[in-house]
Amino acid sequence: MSNIALRCEGVTVSYGALKAIDNVSHAFQEGQVYGLIGPNGAGKTTLLNVLAGRQMRYSGQVYCGDQDISQHPAYERARMGIGRSFQIIKIFGEMTVAENLLIAAQSRRPGFQPFWISRRHDRKFREQLDSILELTGLTSYRDEIAGTLSYGLQRSLEMGVTLLPDPKILLLDEPLAGIGHHEIEAAMQLIGKISQGRTVLLIEHNMDAVMSLSNEIVVMNNGTVLACGTPASIRKDEAVRSIYLGEDDE
Ligand SMILES: Nc1ncnc2c1ncn2[C@@H]1O[C@H](COP(=O)(O)OP(=O)(O)OP(=O)(O)O)[C@@H](O)[C@H]1O
Ligand SMILES: [Mg+2]
Repeated sequence: MSNIALRCEGVTVSYGALKAIDNVSHAFQEGQVYGLIGPNGAGKTTLLNVLAGRQMRYSGQVYCGDQDISQHPAYERARMGIGRSFQIIKIFGEMTVAENLLIAAQSRRPGFQPFWISRRHDRKFREQLDSILELTGLTSYRDEIAGTLSYGLQRSLEMGVTLLPDPKILLLDEPLAGIGHHEIEAAMQLIGKISQGRTVLLIEHNMDAVMSLSNEIVVMNNGTVLACGTPASIRKDEAVRSIYLGEDDE
């Protein structure tokens, strides 16, 4: 029996009369990949924001392991091992690949010490940088200007930035969005690789991708969890097909 990595309990987010999330409870087991699907406006990003601590105006609780982290801001949750990527790409386009990783590493260091203060840390960082570049397939692009890379490679870089603090829990908001056909396979392989040994929540509209990468699918609609189960069972679920798969599967 595996342990629970992340859990939300009775979470509600309201925007005026609209409930973007309506009393959602779900437990995410350690080491599993969860595909979070549902139509536009279902509340997927909002739920990820609640879990990451970027949406603090909600009722209900969020737990990381046994700890109630409902009041913890995003940076504290990041320190506890919760990493996230964004629906819209967030890298510095005018800097090189390596500089982007350096900036990300620096801004996360306790006390914001400049990297040149500690030679020892500098060496450790270089090793870490090399392994992130290799993992994301960016070794030969390390000195390229990030904004000149293909969109798929920019996404890989963003993933590298997210992976720098070695988060145990990864919250990914549409990591394949906008990636061209010829780069999808590589991007999926990267997601598969970084999912090993981690708990992953993956919001994704690409059905084939999310079904093949996930152990469990959580279907949201109108701010609630409509269904959850294995990819095979979700594909067969009539209610899910009528609200979602039907739209996308033709
Ligand atoms: N800051 C906000 N103010 C008002 N309404 C918001 C705000 N953010 C989200 N919403 C609304 O909350 C609902 C859920 O939005 P959310 O972004 O979580 O959906 P989503 O499932 O991620 O959709 P998509 O697939 O389009 O990304 C939508 O109706 C959206 O319009
Ligand atoms: Mg969204």
